[in-house]
Amino acid sequence: MSIASNKSSMPSGSEIQLIRPDDWHLHVRAGAGLKAVMPFTARQCGRAIIMPNLTPPVITTELASTYYQEIMQALEPQSAFQPLMTLYLTNNTTAEEIQHAVDSGLVYAVKLYPAGATTNSDAGVTDIKQCYPALEKMQTLGLPLLVHGEVTDPAIDIFDREKQFIEQRLTGIIHDFPELKVVFEHITTRDAADFVRESSDYIGATITAHHLLMNRNDMLVGGIKPHHYCLPVLKRETHRQALIAAATSGNSKFFMGTDSAPHARGKKETTCGCAGMFTAFAAIELYTEAFENADALEHLENFCSIHGAEFYGLPVNSDQITLRKESWTVPQSYPYGDDVVVPLRAGQTIYWKLIP
Ligand code: DOR
Ligand code: ZN
Repeated sequence: MSIASNKSSMPSGSEIQLIRPDDWHLHVRAGAGLKAVMPFTARQCGRAIIMPNLTPPVITTELASTYYQEIMQALEPQSAFQPLMTLYLTNNTTAEEIQHAVDSGLVYAVKLYPAGATTNSDAGVTDIKQCYPALEKMQTLGLPLLVHGEVTDPAIDIFDREKQFIEQRLTGIIHDFPELKVVFEHITTRDAADFVRESSDYIGATITAHHLLMNRNDMLVGGIKPHHYCLPVLKRETHRQALIAAATSGNSKFFMGTDSAPHARGKKETTCGCAGMFTAFAAIELYTEAFENADALEHLENFCSIHGAEFYGLPVNSDQITLRKESWTVPQSYPYGDDVVVPLRAGQTIYWKLIP
């Protein structure tokens, strides 16, 4: 990575070059929504781990292959972008299905949603022991388990669900499968950052740009902001500080995963709004801002372009992108099929710009 200076605030017009990043946690949906959002990530990233929480969920290699074809058709013919497919783990996922997934060459991970934890997670896992033959096979084959790390017990406060998941669930999985690669997805707490740091090298974590840039005040102070509602929910400032420390530490266990999760505007601005922020349109710009604010631009490339590839055992991308310090105003919305999606920071400023 080349940077002209690493002063905390780079002068307007400064440029940064980075190895092309990858998004290790992305929702692109299907149909017209997919066509609308896929180009944003394909413009920025070499690869992305594609989340399987469609309706119906991507529970077999066959469905993953069909979804892969649909994504390829949503890309420009000359695009070099590579979608890395995932399977949605259920109580019934078999070891044979895991073998099949690896043999396909298309599936790079398996996603664990505790049933009821988030969008389209109803078919998720209710009894992890039933998944043990699949996890055993994943451990043997080196196929990573991606974890939505929140308990779903209605008695547990929503702000404590990640911490409780570590204690009630994750520790047991890691104990029983010590050589299973596990990505603790979109971590939001100091507890999770500490846990990952202190765990073996088989355990990594993604961190979103929005959890690096915002705390729960951004969702709740001065009126409720439905576009800032996501899961795991934004936490208090001390947790955000811990996430920034982890992301900018240079520790290779932490890497970029946007969790960009588009929903049509009406699904967010309603009495029971969906969780998710649409950030893919400016993912790398938002991470750059977070790293610049932390005076840690020298670690941006490791976090966005190197650590994730290393964790997954893949080569880093061979080309580079250029970012310029240049302010621009985010549109109020982007087209989303017959509807629109409201991006993060709609109508507000983003301070960096990816140069085409
Ligand atoms: O905010 C979120 N949105 N968190 C998730 O875990 C799922 C995602 C979605 O699919 O909308
Ligand atoms: Zn997600």
